[in-house]
Formats: sequence, structure tokens, C-alpha cells
Amino acid sequence: MQSMSENDPMMDENLLLDAAREARMKAYAPYSRFLVGAAILDDQGKLHKGCNVENAAYPQGTCAEAGAIAAMILAEGRQIKAIAVVGDSPDPVTPCGGCRQKIREFAEPTIPILIGDLKQLRLRQTLADLLPHSFGPEYLLNEH
Ligand code: THU
Repeated sequence: MQSMSENDPMMDENLLLDAAREARMKAYAPYSRFLVGAAILDDQGKLHKGCNVENAAYPQGTCAEAGAIAAMILAEGRQIKAIAVVGDSPDPVTPCGGCRQKIREFAEPTIPILIGDLKQLRLRQTLADLLPHSFGPEYLLNEH
């Protein structure tokens, strides 16, 4: 697990994208051959990586973002401060709908989602851009 400083946001963006690229190289995607990597920066400044893991029973495959979230939880991180997703495609590879909701569980709507390819940042969105008017854990924590 790596750490990142709070000092230079642009450099940190590149570190996060590079971590996602590294993770992407470990993807298990024999069916789609579409490799995806993700990297999370948590509230402790720690990095957590994930890659997609497919399955012969296709719906059982998991996305890179889900793997990175699992790694964060295992390391006792609870808050996503930023997440990078990297794929190799003509259009930017944004998180699927299910992963947007998975990210929402552990993130404020304002966090940046960095969408990159093998070379560069392609798109920077907030979680709220990708998942507006979202439902989250606070709905269930309120007393009635
Ligand atoms: N995939 C991800 O891992 N993350 C995304 O954001 C988009 C899609 C994976 C799922 C599947 O293994 C492959 O990409 C093709 O859909």
C-alpha cells in the first residue's frame, strides 16, 4: 500500500492514475479482454487498488472499482477522497452505474472521479456529476 501527500494535487492525480494503470495490468478479463484498473485515495492518504475479475459465469465478474473498495475496507479505510479509473478505449471509461452507487457508500458527492487512459487524464467529474440526486447511507441512519 502506498501513501500520498496533500501538497501537490496535480502530482497526486498523476500518482492515482498511475496506480490505476498498474492495477489494470493485473486484471483478469479473459472474456471481454477489456482490462480496467482503479485506485482510491482514502482519508488517511493511503492508496488502494483494484482490477476487474471476470468469471465464466459472466454476471459473477466484478469491476475494478469494487476491487479497490474491498481493498480499502480491508485496510480499514472508510472514506474515499478521490478515485481514478483507467481503461483503454476511444471513449473515457467511466464507472458503471452499479459502481457509482458503490462509490457513493463511502464518498461525499463532491469527490473527484478521474477517468484516464493509458497515457492521460481524459475526464474529471465529481461523484455528483455521475450520480446526481443519489441515495446514500445517511438516509438509513436518520432517526424517525
Ligand atoms: N469494467 C470495470 O471493471 N469498470 C468499469 O468502470 C467499466 C467496466 C469491467 C467489467 C468487465 O470485466 C469489463 O470491464 C467489460 O465490461
